[in-house]
Amino acid sequence: MSKLHLLGYHCERCKHDWVPRVQEQEPKVCPKCKSPYWNRPRRVIRETQTEYKTIQDKFIPLDSFKQDFPYEFIGRSLIVHADCFQWLKHIPENTLHAIVTDPPYGVKEYEPEQITKRKNGNGGIWRIPPSFDGSVRAPLPRFTALNDKERAILTRVFQEWGKLALKALRPGGHVLIASNAFLSQLVFSALVNSGLEFRGEIIRLVRTFRGGDRPKNAEAEFPDISSMPRSCYEPWGIFRKPLPHNLTISQCLRKYGTGGLRRPNREQPFADVIFSERTPQLEREIADHPSLKPQSFMRQLVHAVLPLGVGIIADPFMGAGSTVAAAQAMSLQCIGVERHLEYYEQSRVAIPKLARLHIANLIEQEIEQLTLQL
Ligand SMILES: C[S@@+](CC[C@H](N)C(=O)[O-])C[C@H]1O[C@@H](n2cnc3c(N)ncnc32)[C@H](O)[C@@H]1O
Repeated sequence: MSKLHLLGYHCERCKHDWVPRVQEQEPKVCPKCKSPYWNRPRRVIRETQTEYKTIQDKFIPLDSFKQDFPYEFIGRSLIVHADCFQWLKHIPENTLHAIVTDPPYGVKEYEPEQITKRKNGNGGIWRIPPSFDGSVRAPLPRFTALNDKERAILTRVFQEWGKLALKALRPGGHVLIASNAFLSQLVFSALVNSGLEFRGEIIRLVRTFRGGDRPKNAEAEFPDISSMPRSCYEPWGIFRKPLPHNLTISQCLRKYGTGGLRRPNREQPFADVIFSERTPQLEREIADHPSLKPQSFMRQLVHAVLPLGVGIIADPFMGAGSTVAAAQAMSLQCIGVERHLEYYEQSRVAIPKLARLHIANLIEQEIEQLTLQL
């Protein structure tokens, strides 16, 4: 009897052993956990895990945040069916550690009559983009359609919202708020006027909105011109409730658990450019919301906004719940608030499913990608 020696591999991430069909090439990913880093042991994240665990075991009861609105607890999180202006007005002051939210960019697109118009596919701010390849595209809101009066309303609404957020946040609490390149200057200025401190922007590199088109009805005459740049990023404003006078960041961290942004690991700071993706089909099948954000991106944000890994994150414009699901997946606590009943109901089902999705080695992958590109 002769012995056969087979070359096998061992995944450093999920500990899976396997013998490849083709022996010559080193595998690109682990066939079980799909990690491209299967041949490298996990680094810093493991080092700090015990620390995270003890902090994350601190669970904050959320009962005082449901007020008299319809609500449901989902794992460690709470979802509330309410208008967030009303909700923010009534919750206890200085209690939220952070806000991560994706509001209606132009205020108007999620008004009940606009949601109905979108559903019926007739007019309003939602337009069907022209089809280039025969496939039907989802309607996108057309923000260039906002007139001066609507822009003034947008400024007023975000200023009012900022004041309410300021009251609800703990000192040093961060707000990460999605916008778009066309409207961010209005929204961000309004938030600064409300008293929040502007701390920069996160650039989510992704192509969602279009732009880049030639002048309408004169495409042939001006073939070399675009009326606006092709949009290749989504700006997220970074704001903070000002620290009390004379308080340093370290004192704020000790006293309120806020003030800084959590690093993905000890070696790397949280970076303000994030390579992202469109929301994957799988996630869109779970939640059919027009503005669903991808878990791969949202999980990085919720991780960053709780510097000590403990506290309450709120998403006052919850939609189908991608922020709450991301928090849930990272064992953090979040409160989602949604005004539209259909989306609220959608979130009840979608959050546990989105939270269960495995996003492979998310933070490490992101950092390696960023390091390679810089
Ligand atoms: C851009 S979407 C957020 C989608 C979310 N990022 C997701 O992944 O599902 C904004 C949401 O805010 C909701 N909304 C608009 N005004 C609101 C208000 N005053 N209070 C609570 N929710 C509101 C809309 O119904 C919409 O679902």
